[in-house]
Amino acid sequence: MTAVARTRSALEAARAGWAAAGESVAVVMTMGALHAGHAELIRQARDGDQRIIVTDFLNPLQFAPGEDLDKYPRTFAADLELCTEEGVDLLFAPAPSEVYPAGDPIVRVAAGPVGDVLEGEARPGHFDGVLTVVAKLLHLTAPHRAYFGQKDAQQLWLIKQMVTDLDLPAEVVEVPTVRDDDGLALSSRNIYLVDADRDQALTLHRALEAGESAAVNGATAVVEAAQAQLTASGVRSDYVVLVDPENFTAMNGPGPAILLVAAHVGSTRLIDNVRLHVGSSEK
Ligand code: PAJ
Repeated sequence: MTAVARTRSALEAARAGWAAAGESVAVVMTMGALHAGHAELIRQARDGDQRIIVTDFLNPLQFAPGEDLDKYPRTFAADLELCTEEGVDLLFAPAPSEVYPAGDPIVRVAAGPVGDVLEGEARPGHFDGVLTVVAKLLHLTAPHRAYFGQKDAQQLWLIKQMVTDLDLPAEVVEVPTVRDDDGLALSSRNIYLVDADRDQALTLHRALEAGESAAVNGATAVVEAAQAQLTASGVRSDYVVLVDPENFTAMNGPGPAILLVAAHVGSTRLIDNVRLHVGSSEK
């Protein structure tokens, strides 16, 4: 059974025991409502012969007023069960007052220019809130490795950049996106989708596939092919864009790229992305 720590001191006690035994530690950070995507992060960590901490913290700092903080799914009992099945050593599930004892932090991590575009443009302040909690949780859990999903490509890029720019002593490991059999990227927010939405939600994946198929024809063709799929299905996109994986800025030329899409399905905003190589059919 996975042990549960609700406080910093309980976390610290477990952490100190492992350190004394010379054991390596991995962390998988989540906001709970665990699904097979989170489980894949845990499995990748388990391959590494190391203790595994899962953090389960619905971070208020990364939600703007009016976003879905209040209705975000909370499934702690099932989360604990999944962690136990997947061999997680410790589930750190603190209350907001444990993470932010003095209330909202005055000093925060600034995500910089990449924090203001795409997801950051749709959700102002979101990435400062994400990076601030990720930095805190890295300090509290002090892992050798931290696992994050490519599903949230912009978040992943920013976390890697923060770890580099601020010399945070952890290795970031990227895990490919886990999808349902029909291609829909797993997300805790898929629970908001009613049956009628699901077909539309699949359009995001189809749009990415269409973009991939057009990769040989250049950057413009990729974006046009993806956008055409969304338009044909009547899905309202926020953005369809190709970025350079090195600097996360828009790219027009050939080379490795990430095709990103954000779109509204029913009352839910979904994101997805795929890695491709513009100018060739290789990934
Ligand atoms: P959450 O949305 O719970 O996601 C936790 C981790 O699981 C992230 O690294 C995310 O990229 C990964 N993940 C989610 N769905 C995935 C999928 N289908 N395939 C692979 N990985 C997937 O992302 C957050 O929480 C928060 O912003 C957090 C980093 C925990 C900070 O609060």
